[in-house]
Order: sequence, then structure tokens, then C-alpha cells
Amino acid sequence: MTKTYMINGGILNPESPQKCRFIKNGTLIFNEDGHILYCGQRKQSPLLGSVKIGAPADAIVIPGLIDCHTHLSQYYVRGRSGDTLLGWLKNHIFPAERKFKDPKHASRVSKKFYHRLLSNGITCAALYTNFKAGVEAAFAEGHRAGIRAVIGYTMMDRNVPSALKQEPSKTLDECRELFDNNHQKDGRLRFSINPRFAPSCTPGFMKALGYFAQQKDVCVQTHISENIQELAEVKKLFPRSKSYAEVYDRAGLLTPKTLLAHGIHLSRGERQLIKERACGMVHCPSANLFLHSGRFPLEQWYDYPRLALGSDVGAGPSFSMFDVMRDAYYVNMMPLSRLFYLATLGGAKTLGLEKSIGSLQAGKQADFSVIRLSDIHDPCSEELLYDLIFKWDQREIVQVYVGGRKVWPERE
Ligand code: GUN
Ligand code: ZN
Repeated sequence: MTKTYMINGGILNPESPQKCRFIKNGTLIFNEDGHILYCGQRKQSPLLGSVKIGAPADAIVIPGLIDCHTHLSQYYVRGRSGDTLLGWLKNHIFPAERKFKDPKHASRVSKKFYHRLLSNGITCAALYTNFKAGVEAAFAEGHRAGIRAVIGYTMMDRNVPSALKQEPSKTLDECRELFDNNHQKDGRLRFSINPRFAPSCTPGFMKALGYFAQQKDVCVQTHISENIQELAEVKKLFPRSKSYAEVYDRAGLLTPKTLLAHGIHLSRGERQLIKERACGMVHCPSANLFLHSGRFPLEQWYDYPRLALGSDVGAGPSFSMFDVMRDAYYVNMMPLSRLFYLATLGGAKTLGLEKSIGSLQAGKQADFSVIRLSDIHDPCSEELLYDLIFKWDQREIVQVYVGGRKVWPERE
């Protein structure tokens, strides 16, 4: 008989953008392999004899949060203010990213980065690092930390300092090696192709990367239409393309496995093209506010099933997906159930992983956090979401699990 584990508490579970279910006296049961066997009312629980996991009496259990856009190599430069996108990249980001050529630096930062994610209840992240050494470190430390991640390195072959500029054929050789050695090796970590954005990539480079991504069926991660000066650059560099989205489409970079971050200034035709190609769209409200890039037109994406949230660390100053949800609410008023959905099940759908993560359901992976909220009077779905998202000083994340394994706090 395999061992089963049980945790008791209030369970907050996303069902749809409109509905977040709260089970007051709930129980979550999972097996040694990390699969959920039961999630529901305690008194209807079918399995006796499970090992009980210690949790505070007032514990709230939520699914692991999903951050669909973040930069590992920008860990130390969060909060560097005073510039909009292009100046911020040049003055703060490029100097930080070039340090990732050093494998020791890359390992140290990867470790810290994952620790921050897990301590914030984020069990899955789609991220950018830099250089081959950065990817190797991100896989090794990600494996150690027990997190789920989509990992790629920021690819650029023009308009960036020479220390960051890559030689396309060398990059493709590296991608083959990184894919073979790391992709899906432990079932939790995937390799992706991350062209930074059109202004820093030649058409030929992007085409080769698009071809590689389609051949290997891996995610593409990139930025699109974030800032007005960026759009002007794209127009100048790609005079033959009708739009920014078309630049990526011509390179074969718009696939159902593509994650496009920002998308603030897209035209109606571009939105239509992205939806036809079934790409994932990642809304990064904290970064959009921080860099004064503009407002994401959520109303244009309301019914789109592949919309997620991203912290966009380091343009986003906070790792917390609750802070990202709060900022998303400040720029577009919406029910809190929708925000919670975007950071859980919506994120999983955007990554194509909704069969295994995103909510607490029998058959899925036991990725969850145990949270304590102080001064709750009448726990119900609405009340809990108010407190989780807006009262950061009253919430405490006490334990985090990925695939049934405790990953935070780390064992001594
Ligand atoms: N556009 C191109 N690179 C970046 C980046 O690193 N961060 C953000 N926010 N936008 C970008
Ligand atoms: Zn970004």
C-alpha cells in the first residue's frame, strides 16, 4: 500500500474566472507520488489512515501560484526607477544580465530566486535567464529546489552591448545541447526559446529560433508591444512588416506554445492574429505601472482562454503574485475571482498544463500553499480573496508543496 497524506483547513479553489469555491472544513489528500486523491469536505473524505500534515488550526490551503513571466537574471535590479523601457534596459538591466556568464554567479542567484518564488507560494514560473551557463544553473538549482519552471535564456544578436550579443549558429548549437540535456528530464523543468524582443533580434535569427521551437515543440517566450518607443524601433527595423505581431509571425514565433508578455499597444488586427495562432498572452500589471508603459486593455481579452499574469521581475518590483493581482485590479477593475483564476488555473491553461496543475482536484499534482490570515471574521470566498490580495500585512505563507513534496520552508 502506498502512503497517503492529508492536510486539513479551509480550501480556496478556482473553478472559472467567475467562480472561486471555498470549502470551510476541507481536506486535501494526496499520495506518495504527489497526485491528489481527494479535495473536498472533511466529513465526506473517503480515505482513512492518511498521515496528517501539521498545519495551523486556521490554515487556508490554496493551489500553487503560477507566474507566467519573470526574469531570474534581474533579481538584484528590482526597483531601479527613473527610466522607461529602453533607457531602463540600457542603464540597469544589460549590466546585470552580463554577469550571468559567470556560472558561480548564475548558480548563486538562481538559488536565491527560487527561494523567493517558493516562499511566496509560487510553484511554477516561466522565466528568462542569460547565457548557457545561466540556463544550466537554473536547471540545476530548479531541480534542487523542487519547483516547476519553463527556462530559457534571453536571446539577442543586435542593438545590445557586445557582451550580450550572440552569434546565431552558436546559440542554436547551445539550444540543441541544452534541450537534450535538460528538457523534461525530471518532469518539472522545461527548456524554452526566448528571443528578447524584435528590436534586439535580426529576422534571420528569429526565423531560426522559430524553426527550432516548432521542431522541438517547446515554448517561445518573448515581449511584444510594451512601450511606444519600442514600437517606433520595430517600425524602423522591419519596414516590410505590417505590424509588430506580423514580425513574429513571419519568423514562425507565434505558436500555441508562445508566451507573449505585455501586449499593451496592439492593434485590433494584431490581437486577432495572436488569438488565431492561440498564443498565450501574459499581463504584467506591476511592470507596466513601474515602467510607465501604459494600460493593458483587459476588456479586449476578457473571453480569451489563454491569458495569465506575470510579475515581470525586475520591471515588476515584487515577487508576490498577490501584489501582481492587486496591481491588475488597480488598472482594470474586475472581480477578485478572476484575478485569482489568472494566477492559478488561467496560468496553467496558458502553459498548457491545466491537466496537471492550476487547481486542487483529484488526479492533478499536489501543488499548494498553506496560508494563515489574521483577523478573518467570516471566512468565505470573497472575504478571503479581499484579504489575500489587499491586506499583505495580514497574510503569512507557512508551507509550500510541489507534487506533494514540501519545498518551503526548506528542511534544515
Ligand atoms: N522588453 C525587452 N526586454 C525586456 C525586459 O527585460 N523586461 C521588460 N519588462 N520588457 C522587455
Ligand atoms: Zn519581461
